[in-house]
Amino acid sequence: MFTLPYSEADPCWLRYDRKLSLEEVPCLSRISVSESSDCITSAIHELRYAIGKMTGRVPVVDYKDEDIALTSAVRLVSAARASTLPDEFTASGLLESLGDEGYSLKRLTRGEQDILYIVGYSDKGLLHGTFHLLRLLQSGDSISSLDVTERPRNRLRMMNHWDNMDGSIERGYAGKSIFFQDNGFVEEDGRIRDYARLMASVGINGISINNVNVHEVETRLITAAELPKVARIAGIFRAYGIRLFLSVNYASPMQLGGLATADPLDRDVREWWSRTAAEIYGQVPDFGGIVVKADSEHRPGPFTYNRTHADGSNMLAEALAPYGGIVIWRCFVYNCMQDWRDRTTDRARAAYDHFKPLDGQFRENVILQIKNGPMDFQVREAVSPLFGAMPDTNQMLELQITQEYTGQQRHLCYLVPQWKEILDFDTYASGSGSEVKKVASGELYEYSHSGIAAVINVGDDRNWTGHALAQANLYGYGRLAWNPDTEETQITEEWVKQTFGSHPLVMELINSMLTDSWRIYENYTAPLGVGWMVNPGHHYGPNVDGYEYSVWGTYHFADLHGMGVNRTLKDGTGYTGQYFPENAARYESLYTCPDDLLLFFHHVPYTHQLKSGKTVIQHIYDSHFEGAVGAESLVERWIQLEGLVEPDRYDTVLKRLLHQADHSKEWRDIINTYFFRKSGIGDEQNRQIF
Ligand code: GCU
Repeated sequence: MFTLPYSEADPCWLRYDRKLSLEEVPCLSRISVSESSDCITSAIHELRYAIGKMTGRVPVVDYKDEDIALTSAVRLVSAARASTLPDEFTASGLLESLGDEGYSLKRLTRGEQDILYIVGYSDKGLLHGTFHLLRLLQSGDSISSLDVTERPRNRLRMMNHWDNMDGSIERGYAGKSIFFQDNGFVEEDGRIRDYARLMASVGINGISINNVNVHEVETRLITAAELPKVARIAGIFRAYGIRLFLSVNYASPMQLGGLATADPLDRDVREWWSRTAAEIYGQVPDFGGIVVKADSEHRPGPFTYNRTHADGSNMLAEALAPYGGIVIWRCFVYNCMQDWRDRTTDRARAAYDHFKPLDGQFRENVILQIKNGPMDFQVREAVSPLFGAMPDTNQMLELQITQEYTGQQRHLCYLVPQWKEILDFDTYASGSGSEVKKVASGELYEYSHSGIAAVINVGDDRNWTGHALAQANLYGYGRLAWNPDTEETQITEEWVKQTFGSHPLVMELINSMLTDSWRIYENYTAPLGVGWMVNPGHHYGPNVDGYEYSVWGTYHFADLHGMGVNRTLKDGTGYTGQYFPENAARYESLYTCPDDLLLFFHHVPYTHQLKSGKTVIQHIYDSHFEGAVGAESLVERWIQLEGLVEPDRYDTVLKRLLHQADHSKEWRDIINTYFFRKSGIGDEQNRQIF
């Protein structure tokens, strides 16, 4: 007999705390299913646990086909048993239209009969449909005339772990890895099972389990010694409709195979990868593919051999192609040994300059994974001009859930609003209406593979994310990856209801805290799109010149006259010219460039007047004072929830919010003081600046 949950970890949004009466929803008293598969078993376990918890009675499961005559049941049916479905499902080609992962939920009540159908083309659809139903039940939404049909907009909906096998997590802020410890795999897998449930419940279908910086130990994940352990995790994922991916070291043929080169055109290298692919698929038949960080931040890659990224990725793709595997090749390639005195090199240009000329040269099972912005997951930066610029090359979007530059899960920073802006950004690649979300979904250019990936924020902390409210980012990312048009308010409300219940004050306050938090964070940290004013290395806390005279290509160029990076075509780095004409023109002109990205695109005097009517310097002061007040208001809102949120969660969140409020003042004072001293211009309101 199974028991859910599989671990002691926080259940996040799968709490199933709402009370339901079987009299009102008689169909929940029984589950009827006449097929079997790992995914269907997962769906049944979840239904039994969830319904049992919400109604007080665990539903019986009926495995026979005669259950058509049942008076009341939740019935799961895939295409394999289509003949048992009522006309409502078979008439209009509905089943075929669902694809591999979509589903249709309908509640049919006729006289005494109350049957809630969860119908998918495949068993994966049934699992996704199950979680949709449970989301509605938990949120208290009416299912009396339930009739929904959904299929995911993005084919690939991925999580990227940056976990190392020693158990550490690069940019992890919630404990150690849930997969690895002491240079091996964890033995206990309850936590991984619960993780798979959480991921499946928001529709994730691909997970890479190790860091893109593949060090010596992790390089061995693709060897015979480690693959059986990889296969164990893949098996857990498989039962939740998720395929496992690995990050690989480009120089593996040298490190593991003893070859003298990793040259992608070398015959031995190609054969080595082919053999390795065969071994991987021998152990993990549904292995998703590999993620590659090459020629980036000192990682090896094809440049060493004077080959291109196309040569490098195609060679790997050729090895995986016989098995349907894909190569996810990251575009985070730039010169990380720049001389700060060199004003001609612009890191923001790098991805486009490297990859755009290669359009059309990649195999059909290569996808280029592009970070949302051209720099590196700042609280605000422009959207990468590479999106939409390669009609003949598969692209996908990379976001960062882990809050590297956005408060490291000690600060509250709900990123769904930021992601919505990115997804809705119009690239104009094929006229207006060419948003990033359509590039990622493959709608714009009919890519053979595409989607969204994000660097995940979980670790082995009991609550997964360190800050309990950072679970909302995890949830929100999954929901947007499934359908980028889902409204922010819907996602936020769903999450709050499932995670904290539906008490009106709880809903109102947590909702507003989340909704306001990104702006608040932006206000007390980086003004007007400038970014990077953080402590080097760990990236936490204010340090205006932390990255100013460094090799990383991350400058604000503040002097006594003004600040910002001139990226114009006219007399700057020419970066604006990488956008399609509508955006290029908008960013090029000081008068049309939006305020919140002004310093990303232009170097201006402190007295330059923004569209808001304020000067740049006054904006810096005002936003930092406002930001600190905003951080304080998060505390004020939260303390009204004492007694309405259970003490444990209440206390841990409060602790972090108090730290945030405090830290926001440090940010405020350091930034304001720095620019006051640089510019010599006082605050119009004479507030205290040190
Ligand atoms: C950032 C981050 C690194 C990471 C890199 C990447 O630079 O700080 O930790 O390895 O991005 O995305 O590859």
